[in-house]
Amino acid sequence: MPIVAPSLLSADFTRLADEAKMLNTSEADWFHLDVMDGIFVPNLTFGMPIISQLRKLSTKTFDVHLMIVQPERYIEEFKKAGADILTVHYEASTHLHRTLHAIRQAGMKAGVALNPHTPVQLLEDVIEDIDLVCLMSVNPGFGGQKFIENTYKKVLKLVDMRNDSQTNFLIEIDGGVNQLNAAKLTDAGADVLVAGNFIFSSNNPIETIKSLKYCR
Ligand code: DX5
Ligand code: ZN
Repeated sequence: MPIVAPSLLSADFTRLADEAKMLNTSEADWFHLDVMDGIFVPNLTFGMPIISQLRKLSTKTFDVHLMIVQPERYIEEFKKAGADILTVHYEASTHLHRTLHAIRQAGMKAGVALNPHTPVQLLEDVIEDIDLVCLMSVNPGFGGQKFIENTYKKVLKLVDMRNDSQTNFLIEIDGGVNQLNAAKLTDAGADVLVAGNFIFSSNNPIETIKSLKYCR
């Protein structure tokens, strides 16, 4: 069964407390929190203050996805805000090895996200320093975009790399996940399914979360 991580990005921001409580009662495993800076991606969202407020209401693992330049500036702050997993972009981290070590040192799981054009092979030399690889299956910045089909191939390659290196990082898929691709992604080897629009724009988010959890 995949780990299901609803993305706050598509929630109703006027009712964040209700949305967090709804997720508490659901079969969601994680809460995916998208931090955007308007520079790395053409959109702005939220940062530490919202995350630390939500931390008080949520019982879920906080999976924080930083879409910001120089993410190493805020590692300690996101730990304090309540992040359990901190994911930085390969494309935004000049000293990725140092950043991954700093994330683990701060007591969090270290994630790396790859844009759709970034080959998974580029992670080969830091593979042992990674707890999670987030494959972007849309160009980051917005919810509700169309899933990029090339992602399946990237999952298969990552599974090979994981076997060859005898490591056990999780493979997360972020963007355009829905009932049409969830099972195929899981079969290919994806461990974590992030979903925003599919969950929060549905009539019954609790049931929609369940449909992802039991997609196999
Ligand atoms: C996109 C974000 C995603 C987004 C996914 O830049 O990283 O986490 O919320 O949303 P959907 O599932 O709507 O594509
Ligand atoms: Zn995300």
